[in-house]
Amino acid sequence: MATPLTIAELKDVARRRVPKMFFDYADSGAWTEGTYKANEADFAAIKLRQRVLVDMTNRSLESTMIGEKVSMPVALSPTGLTGMQHADGEILAAQAAEKAGVPFTLSTMSVCSIEDVAAHTTKPFWFQLYVMKDREFVKSLINRARAAGCSALVLTLDLQILGQRHKDIRNGLSTPPKFIPKHIWQVATRPKWAFEMLGTKRRSFGNIVGHAKGVGDLSSLSSWTAEQFDPRLSWDDVAWIKEQWGGKLILKGIMDADDAVKAAETGAEAIIVSNHGGRQLDGAASSISVLPEIVKAVGDRIEVHVDGGIRSGQDVLKALCLGAQGTYIGRPFLYGLGAYGKRGVTIALDIIRNELDITMALCGKRDIRDVGPELLHHRLPVVATEPARPSQ
Ligand SMILES: Cc1cc2nc3c(=O)[nH]c(=O)nc-3n(C[C@H](O)[C@H](O)[C@H](O)COP(=O)(O)O)c2cc1C
Repeated sequence: MATPLTIAELKDVARRRVPKMFFDYADSGAWTEGTYKANEADFAAIKLRQRVLVDMTNRSLESTMIGEKVSMPVALSPTGLTGMQHADGEILAAQAAEKAGVPFTLSTMSVCSIEDVAAHTTKPFWFQLYVMKDREFVKSLINRARAAGCSALVLTLDLQILGQRHKDIRNGLSTPPKFIPKHIWQVATRPKWAFEMLGTKRRSFGNIVGHAKGVGDLSSLSSWTAEQFDPRLSWDDVAWIKEQWGGKLILKGIMDADDAVKAAETGAEAIIVSNHGGRQLDGAASSISVLPEIVKAVGDRIEVHVDGGIRSGQDVLKALCLGAQGTYIGRPFLYGLGAYGKRGVTIALDIIRNELDITMALCGKRDIRDVGPELLHHRLPVVATEPARPSQ
């Protein structure tokens, strides 16, 4: 097959290569998936202003996120179970991100461990932290991230309890796959995936199994996870984590201007406007739709990043024009990974980079750091209305 030209094409290939339960795990939102869909749809409703006859030579997409140089302001989101989209998935995605000059964020719930990713990359990556009730374990995760040279801690605030995703329940999602007939069939019809998975020893939650007390194997892990996420997480805990970490901190999952103000008061470097890709509160607004009010509330005090629904370079540009200093992609890189492994993540990043570059130029700009709201049409999406009648 010819190299995919869009993220949607990568998604189609991934659907054919990844066992259904893991493809669905990526391509799902909570309950009705309304917020998941709104994240994408609301980008489409924002229109760009086309400009002509401006010099479009010598363009640059280089920028910074939390003071780190990036070849374009697009990071890879933390995603759990990435090593189930493709064998050794986190290592491959981190290597592709490093090559592309963009940040990679490793999830607490990754398959490859912090140490494993560090051993297979040469530049620092970011580590995403979920807060467990067992604070000693949280401390040990923070210490391990520091020892591995991670340059930022991304603290996720929107998963004190888990949103329900129907597909995962229907599929009986588990890691590694349980050997029930449905799963055997799903894996047997994806032989390349299965073959590569057999060739790796990384098939479990690498940051947890063998590290957390009482978790030596997977049968105890599922009950441990359900019991361990801390539903009492508070702003005081954020202060404690900031102190334990002592480095750059990014707060992920802010969707409300009042919360953004509190987040800015913590002294963190950045916030990520995010509804977890529509996987937690179904019915929440799309992240792009709340970005402007959050930028207005705290944009002069803290860096504002955004994720959710970005499927193209045009979407990245729109987010930057609305005041984001950085953006993240979750599913787009997972689809690339599921489709073609490391090469697929590179393809996803190349697609977005190329679209971002051409779109910026056609909007009349040469430097990504110069884009702003003037590139957007400030009017509502076109709605069908009665044609105006000439006055009598
Ligand atoms: C399969 C999958 C797993 C995820 N796991 C995590 C996770 O472990 N930690 C986290 O903070 N966010 C997690 N997220 C949310 C992403 O970090 C990010 O907010 C979201 O994917 C952005 O939306 P997008 O996929 O539309 O780009 C996950 C998202 C997906 C799709």
